Amino acid sequence: MDELKLNNLADGCFSRESGMPEYRNLQTRNPQTSNRQTTFMLTTTHLTKTYKTAGGAQLTVLDDVSFDLAAGDSFAIVGPSGSGKTTLLGLCAGLDRASSGSVTLNGIRLDDLSEDERAEVRNRYVGFVFQNFQLIPTLTALENVMVPLELRGDANAEKIARGWLEKVGLGSRLDHYPAQLSGGEQQRVCIARAFANSPKILFADEPTGNLDADNAAGIVDLIFDLNRNAGTTLVLVTHDPELAKRTGRILRLKGGRAE
Ligand SMILES: Nc1ncnc2c1ncn2[C@@H]1O[C@H](COP(=O)(O)OP(=O)(O)OP(=O)(O)O)[C@@H](O)[C@H]1O
Ligand SMILES: [Mg+2]
Repeated sequence: MDELKLNNLADGCFSRESGMPEYRNLQTRNPQTSNRQTTFMLTTTHLTKTYKTAGGAQLTVLDDVSFDLAAGDSFAIVGPSGSGKTTLLGLCAGLDRASSGSVTLNGIRLDDLSEDERAEVRNRYVGFVFQNFQLIPTLTALENVMVPLELRGDANAEKIARGWLEKVGLGSRLDHYPAQLSGGEQQRVCIARAFANSPKILFADEPTGNLDADNAAGIVDLIFDLNRNAGTTLVLVTHDPELAKRTGRILRLKGGRAE
């Protein structure tokens, strides 16, 4: 996507006028045209994801989920295994496309965009901590964290990547390949990679799922520091009720539906 188009789209953090129906301003792209009260970083409307099973049946894994999240807010998505949490996170971050409904991130309607355009929006605004890490196996820890910075053309990619790896306690593992790292260490590389890009919104899928209590506490503090100090909007999937309680709002999913 060219720079101008992205900038124009990104200008459009939309708002809800008081007393108006819930999603009235969804299409509003220019903040000057509306009487703003809240700036939304993320909105989903009637988001649904279905898969066709091998047997040909239709399986609905996310069913009509709508919410909005103001810039700088923190939000937890909780629910039993298989309830659709990772699916919802992937749709919100533009990693996957919905079957119906829409996602608007930082004022940009993701469902209007091509695969490449969504990749560019992700690189510019989104940090994503994957449940299964998704590190590049042929790159070292340091190189993995440098990838998104280099994609952005950041001249200080190596320095920034080193700094974040040190913050997550991996200063002595910079040159290890993912296969040479423990599960918790891989998770921390994934977290460093997400933070290094200074995202406007951080999606983290069970970010402490593989960590011991001390490391988990350190990572949670880093996540909330990002929220407090850089205003990063947080969307956390967690099975940890204590972590969920630290966020401003909790969405409970059950069988793909918001409870
Ligand atoms: N590609 C796919 N094809 C068919 N079904 C899928 C596919 N991907 C996910 N599912 C199903 O969608 C449902 C929701 O999966 P999802 O990964 O979102 O769950 P989750 O809430 O993140 O669970 P967990 O807590 O175990 O990580 C699951 O029942 C899963 O089997
Ligand atoms: Mg999951």
